[in-house]
Amino acid sequence: QVFKLKDYKPTDFVVERIDLTFELDPRETKVISRVILHRREGVAKDVPLVFDGDELTLDGLQLDGSDIDPALYDVTPDTLVIRGLPESAPFEVTVSTTISPETNTALMGLYRTNGVYCTQCEAEGFRRITYFYDRPDVLAVYTVTIIASKDEAKYLLSNGNYLGGGNYDEGRHFAAWFDPHPKPSYLFALVAGDLGLIEDTFTTMSGREVALKIYVEHGKEPRAGYAMDALKRSMRWDEEVYGREYDLDIFQIVAVSDFNMGAMENKGLNVFNDKYVLADPATATDADFANIEAIIAHEYFHNWTGNRITCRDWFQLCLKEGLTVYRDHAFSADQRSAPVKRIAEIRLLKAHQFPEDAGPLAHPVRPESYREINNFYTTTVYEKGSEVVRMIRTVVGAEDFRKGMDLYFERHDGDAATIEDFLACFAEASGRDFKQFSLWYSQAGTPSVTVSTDWNEAKKTFKVTLEQSLAPTPGQSRKAPMHIPLAYGLILPDGSEFAGHPTGKEAADGVLHLTRRRQVFTFTGVPGRPVLSINRGFSAPVNIAMEQSTADLAHIARHDSDGVARWQAISEQATRHLVEASRLARDGRNLPSARDLADILVATAADDSLEPAFRAQALTLPAESDIAREIGSNIDPDAIHAAREAVLSEIARAGLAVFSDLADGAPKGPYSPGAADAGRRALAGIAMNYAAIAEGSPARAKAAFDAADNMTTLSQALQVMTQNFPAAAETRQALDTFRTRFADDPLVLDKWYSLQALAPGAGTRARVEELLAGKDFDRTNPNRMRALVGAFTSGNPTGFNAADGGGYRLLAREVVDIDKRNPQLAARLLTAMRSWRSLEAERQEQARLALVSIRSAGNLSADVSDIVDRMLAA
Ligand code: ARG
Ligand code: ZN
Repeated sequence: QVFKLKDYKPTDFVVERIDLTFELDPRETKVISRVILHRREGVAKDVPLVFDGDELTLDGLQLDGSDIDPALYDVTPDTLVIRGLPESAPFEVTVSTTISPETNTALMGLYRTNGVYCTQCEAEGFRRITYFYDRPDVLAVYTVTIIASKDEAKYLLSNGNYLGGGNYDEGRHFAAWFDPHPKPSYLFALVAGDLGLIEDTFTTMSGREVALKIYVEHGKEPRAGYAMDALKRSMRWDEEVYGREYDLDIFQIVAVSDFNMGAMENKGLNVFNDKYVLADPATATDADFANIEAIIAHEYFHNWTGNRITCRDWFQLCLKEGLTVYRDHAFSADQRSAPVKRIAEIRLLKAHQFPEDAGPLAHPVRPESYREINNFYTTTVYEKGSEVVRMIRTVVGAEDFRKGMDLYFERHDGDAATIEDFLACFAEASGRDFKQFSLWYSQAGTPSVTVSTDWNEAKKTFKVTLEQSLAPTPGQSRKAPMHIPLAYGLILPDGSEFAGHPTGKEAADGVLHLTRRRQVFTFTGVPGRPVLSINRGFSAPVNIAMEQSTADLAHIARHDSDGVARWQAISEQATRHLVEASRLARDGRNLPSARDLADILVATAADDSLEPAFRAQALTLPAESDIAREIGSNIDPDAIHAAREAVLSEIARAGLAVFSDLADGAPKGPYSPGAADAGRRALAGIAMNYAAIAEGSPARAKAAFDAADNMTTLSQALQVMTQNFPAAAETRQALDTFRTRFADDPLVLDKWYSLQALAPGAGTRARVEELLAGKDFDRTNPNRMRALVGAFTSGNPTGFNAADGGGYRLLAREVVDIDKRNPQLAARLLTAMRSWRSLEAERQEQARLALVSIRSAGNLSADVSDIVDRMLAA
């Protein structure tokens, strides 16, 4: 079944409120749902009520307390249709179902994880609990009563404020919750279990006290402190930056170990993958701490962008996700180093979203049709969606952006809104027209902008010609020109910046607004030949094609006033060199000298005036997958690997003295997860990698491993060994030590699996098979599967793409197997093959065969068949 944006229609009945009662039991949980509704005005009296279900069995059905005549309803596992309902008066429908959380392996709806009952309802999990209007535009006030055994479930939690509770019957107790804020079913949550708890409070800007609670597995309480701290900072930030205050007496977070995604913003009761809650210096890396901070903030910010204002339908998913990612990015930038944060965002966008946009799974930020909505929680909806919001701010300016947001909150509080509603607020606040801009929501694919410049020495004029194009994507063969805001600077020979702006064009704000296919901007009175720094800070998510000399790139890298632009110039230079070297390697030719690149990188590494975190970013070469993306077609992963290794080692040898020095530069003394110390550790880590490469020995890394007193350094050292010296005795020994030391800590063991899966080379597949076959390997845990299979298939180009196709067959086999239990996880892992058509012919054929084998497996879920069909469609 295909769902289409243009088919939107409101429900025939309006839900006023819903009261849910749960009698929890692992295999026979009884759910009673009392829903008060009335027929929508204008809906004919013979129109039936149609509720959604998913694998449900109906136990009972009443209208205003009396059983409904079976002749008046039809029920299947997926739907409940009731006829003969009152014409205008409100009525109450009582629906009883029995569900089995214990055997719910899809991790959607109500399920069990480590003995804890928990829910995941977004997008369509509520229909696995009871028959209901399971769609985001049906907002209702919820009352929830939970009954459970005291031994099994000490805490009984749901959304909203606690009403009360107590003893129920022999051995059982109950609790009741009331959420006064009308919400859609996807924000419903229930958690019940025996958990550890840490508590704090937050006083809002208007002086209300909010109880903060984070529930984790017993014994892990000390690892929840950082998440609590991040939560309080998020709450304060949303008040200060957006004027948004929290709106219940209590805010709760529960960390669970089996979770399909990162976390979920259920009203007042966020449920998290424990990977994004638990951290301490001994078990979490700096990156883990940063992710926790970002995701805690993300889910908290959803309270306003997502919950108070939700989506009319799932096509509008980016309305809440793009905007909330934009907000969590801004939060992290404020808490840490803004340029370093931006660099990481650009890297991520190019590494994940650009390939999605360039392949068979490309779709607009707001899709227009889908078969399975779970497959649209994508980097396009999230990350490109965030970039689009960022561009809105670039176009209207900071002040009007805030005005537009205020208007959005004021006008749509309590609504299920659309992208049109959102854009209208900025149009009104700024007096601009967003018609052309809105193409960012409807046209898929990454635009290309070709830039050419012309310097006239005699007239002192500088001409910039911009030309945009957008390649066809599935279902969209022809595209209209978009509004592309390109931040820029002209850097003069002395390194200063030209202050003038182009004639006749609206570009005074440091932004060239490209709105036609081709546009020329002329600068006059330019004192000397300038170097153009374009798409500064990645103001638009586009590919820039410009012939710029190495000397000009070096000029930007040295002088640009914008740190992100300096990194962009360095990264461009590295990318060009690596692309060239990879092509030559593929053709079996000699590689060019990387001397120029090495000089820049070593000079950057040694420049103490630069932030350590920035230097670490500059030293991190584009990944093999980045090089593959730039090359675009006929990819030979082995050639790319060989070329990149050669460049790494040339840089390493050129800078050994500097790297050797920096490798010892990690902060001494007690660990702090703050950005400054994390930056110093990042620089020390990358320097250790270069030094070890130059020395051709794992000794340095092994010493760092043995001396490490925190997980960041420990895993950096282990990574240097597994990446560069996978077969060395020191590496095997370190892996064993790591495994033994963290045998009881699943989240840390995930790192052990990933590091091995990421070791380059065709031989890694055998190791992955061995690990998969281990008797304590838990195939039902999504984190574990992602750590091993996900890391291997999406992070190890030479291993996964081994020429014999063994990697593809491994993935196909696992996807078909996982699909029987957890379709969402299976579909997500399968997307690792989304760029298969850009491979060289032989690998492409192997990949195609693997995809065809999945398609012919039979009994596929909608999730997996949707992905495999789109990937195979021409
Ligand atoms: N709304 C959640 C977040 O962005 C993600 C939930 C995704 N759930 C899903 N079933 N696809 O934090
Ligand atoms: Zn989100």
